[in-house]
Amino acid sequence: MKRVLTIALALVLTVASLSAADLKVGVLSPLTGPVPSFGLSVKEGTLLAVSEWNAKGGILGQKIVPVIEDGQCDAAAATNAANKLINQDQVKFILGEVCSGATIPVTELAGAAKVLLLSPTATNPNVTVDKAGKTKDFAFRACYIDPFQGGILAQFSYTRLKAKNAFILYDQGNDYTIGLANAFEAQFTKLGGKVVGKETYTKTDTDFSAILAKIKAAKPEVVLLPDYYNIVNLVTKQAKEKGITVPFVGGDGWDSPDLDKAAAAGGYYTNHYSPEDKRAEVVNFLKAYAAAYKDDAGKGKVPDALATLGYDGANLLFTAIKNAGSTDTTKVKEALEKISFNGVTGKITFDKAHNPVKALTILSVTKDKIAFDSVVQP
Ligand code: PHE
Repeated sequence: MKRVLTIALALVLTVASLSAADLKVGVLSPLTGPVPSFGLSVKEGTLLAVSEWNAKGGILGQKIVPVIEDGQCDAAAATNAANKLINQDQVKFILGEVCSGATIPVTELAGAAKVLLLSPTATNPNVTVDKAGKTKDFAFRACYIDPFQGGILAQFSYTRLKAKNAFILYDQGNDYTIGLANAFEAQFTKLGGKVVGKETYTKTDTDFSAILAKIKAAKPEVVLLPDYYNIVNLVTKQAKEKGITVPFVGGDGWDSPDLDKAAAAGGYYTNHYSPEDKRAEVVNFLKAYAAAYKDDAGKGKVPDALATLGYDGANLLFTAIKNAGSTDTTKVKEALEKISFNGVTGKITFDKAHNPVKALTILSVTKDKIAFDSVVQP
């Protein structure tokens, strides 16, 4: 009798520990490399969502275990990290990467292994759609896309800044900056504006004086600089030193606590949310984030757009797993396609290309603050 009981108990324990098995989720963000503030923010937002779900018992009785990897905002580094996540850790879900150029190759790899990837922040269309225009089954994102963002930047420059002549400056090796530059040019010229100059650089350039001299000579009324904050800091600082006062505009890549506000002052950028928004989702998130993360002075941190999208992206994925009632990635992908989710960055439903349709926020930069300017609906 005792023996039977022991066996029964052992069985129950085995089943219990099986159903309570951990659900590993890869979290791939640029923790080192050119844009480490992106990686830290996305990681913090993602881990806040993980701890909230785990405090409520996880998903489908499983505890969520994040496996954190550094993609460095780089195609090769992100590919290596994703290979490790897929083959060694055997994750079925990846949240990441953050940068478009690092995310696109990872979607190919993940898709082939039926690993579901959701990038919280990568805005280039080719993250979710292949070169032939077909939607990638296992790739999603939590943010809007660059044709929308670039088009709005052109519209804003033409109507609000009353710029008729624009100068475009971008990194020729970065899918993100190329996509935004193209979208801006198409919309700006369609509106009747003229592109009076277009220059490229590479990600290792640090001296922009030759390009800045051309900008000075071309006399544009706006300069598009659709790059990440590290480059924006260099270019806008050198522009100010050269006495260039024309406003620079850019996309979400400017979003960082490390943006040099004095250098970028007078500029505008598109983003995914504003902490000044009074919606309950935003207010609650600000509270939870400030309680979880403190700055060096011990004050609760204000989440940037990356932290917010990290949080929304993780919640989107976890909600879809719960809705699917299964961790089978085909079922979860179908649940994502049908989801209607109230995120901090807005209400999210997916279009046929696995892109959320949602509003965009425009922010302005002054030397001591980033201010809310306006919201643009899709
Ligand atoms: N959209 C950028 C990219 O695709 C990443 C990013 C998102 C940067 C949000 C800042 C804020 O590369």
